[in-house]
Amino acid sequence: MKFQTTHYHLDLLKDNDRVSAFFEAINQYDSKTDLAYDLGCGSGLLSYFLNEKFSEIISIEIDEKASGCASENLKSFNNITVFNEDVLKYDFSKKADLIVCEMLDTALIDEEEVQVLNHVRKFLKEDGEIIPNAVINFAELVNMERHYIHWDEGASYEILSEPLNYSKIDFKNKINPNFEDILEFEVNNEGTANGIKITTVTILNDNVVCGPTPMFNPPLMIPIDETNVKSNDLINVKLKYIMGQGIETVKTQLI
Ligand SMILES: C[S@@+](CC[C@H](N)C(=O)[O-])C[C@H]1O[C@@H](n2cnc3c(N)ncnc32)[C@H](O)[C@@H]1O
Repeated sequence: MKFQTTHYHLDLLKDNDRVSAFFEAINQYDSKTDLAYDLGCGSGLLSYFLNEKFSEIISIEIDEKASGCASENLKSFNNITVFNEDVLKYDFSKKADLIVCEMLDTALIDEEEVQVLNHVRKFLKEDGEIIPNAVINFAELVNMERHYIHWDEGASYEILSEPLNYSKIDFKNKINPNFEDILEFEVNNEGTANGIKITTVTILNDNVVCGPTPMFNPPLMIPIDETNVKSNDLINVKLKYIMGQGIETVKTQLI
């Protein structure tokens, strides 16, 4: 079978660390568990993994081209139904044992994970699970070459502080999309701080954790007002953003 996909989804498929983390997490299910939802199924790879383990899989994808690829790729499996629809408008009627939803971006800022999970969580059985089931966000003070918000794709920067574990978001609980907190950085290097680096680690289940990869939450570099720092300084930065509303919502303030 030749797997059909879009350019974007092909890049996702080529990210081995990402794909193997999802495969491992899904593979831990017993064969013929009842129902799984694959939300934002793209060209259908995760539904293909789910097929071995679930009696019924409902796969929903908003993008017409990707959903067409998924329908074609999965047409020989009687237990998988692909819908080309917005998850937020889909008429859910059954409670699932598993919801797979990978609309993730660093700190959940730039994709719809939070809004989608807050909408569908009521369609999960009491003992059901969500993959991934949490993210942990870390921040570090940096001196960065580019003084505008960008993903870490090779531009240089120097780390000036200890990593700060500033939030854990558990997907089983209702998530407030508005994040606002003052982060206190312990400086361990001398230099000019002009940014913070946010790194998100994704917990797929109790046994599978996936760090940032090129296609799965690459670190986000956020500018702050410049300040000279030296070892043992404590630097406070107010960080604010709205999850699911994009990087335009990110605001920082040196306190
Ligand atoms: C990061 S991709 C994951 C794709 C897929 N899981 C894979 O492994 O190829 C997220 C997908 O969610 C889809 N998506 C985003 N918002 C959606 C929504 N509201 N309803 C349905 N699909 C959505 C996007 O079009 C995209 O294909």
